[in-house]
Amino acid sequence: MHTLWGTATPPSPLTPAEARVIAAAVPSRRREFTAGRACARVVLEELGHHDWSLLPGPRREPLWPDGVVGSISHCPGLAVAVAARSADALAIGIDVETDAPLPANVVGSVMDAGEAQAIEQLAAQDPPTPWERLLFSAKESVYKAWYPLRHEWLGFEDVGIELSPDGTFLARIRRADTAPLPRVLSGRWARGNGVVVTALVLPGR
Ligand SMILES: CC(C)(COP(=O)(O)OP(=O)(O)OC[C@H]1O[C@@H](n2cnc3c(N)ncnc32)[C@H](O)[C@@H]1OP(=O)(O)O)[C@@H](O)C(=O)NCCC(=O)NCCS
Repeated sequence: MHTLWGTATPPSPLTPAEARVIAAAVPSRRREFTAGRACARVVLEELGHHDWSLLPGPRREPLWPDGVVGSISHCPGLAVAVAARSADALAIGIDVETDAPLPANVVGSVMDAGEAQAIEQLAAQDPPTPWERLLFSAKESVYKAWYPLRHEWLGFEDVGIELSPDGTFLARIRRADTAPLPRVLSGRWARGNGVVVTALVLPGR
């Protein structure tokens, strides 16, 4: 698997096709898109895909070359792209967030009562860790792994997240049919340098 962590000032420009799809966006959006594409370009090169235009699909999902799965995330000051050959990974989801409490008006729509209770216990053991932010991020990572395979919306209420202090989490997808993904996915989280990151990789077959 190939991962690149980058800064918000990417060294390489967009391909002409990528530049066209983001041309009308506001400057901050163009910057984050460009930073994510610059990271993706490096991981794609490492996988042998040169000059691939990583265009967005209808729901903004990056359209990786055949035989590649990957994921992109950005937050202020940081972009990340991760990709792997489909033989090695069925799906990948990654999400980076600023290490800060989740805004109070968002918390209620992201977690249910059971998740809120678990978060309260984690926060009592380890107050500095932004547990609610991590739970939110884990759901974003699950969605990014899920969507390219299923092409279906998944709401915050459709996934239950169980965070552990050891840097892992479990995600339970509350759907009758989750194929080809398993219903329970395991992921990892980390915190440092002002950001939190969650990620999951589903092994290939
Ligand atoms: C799409 C979404 C997950 C992006 O997350 P975000 O925290 O806003 O932004 P991030 O920087 O972490 O990620 C953005 C990147 O995700 C990727 N992405 C966007 N939509 C995607 C999709 N449908 N499938 C896979 N990846 C997607 C893109 O690469 C995007 O960057 P780009 O537009 O520059 O290429 C989020 O905006 C969203 O729509 N969430 C609602 C769905 C959800 O999270 N459900 C949770 C329950 S599982």
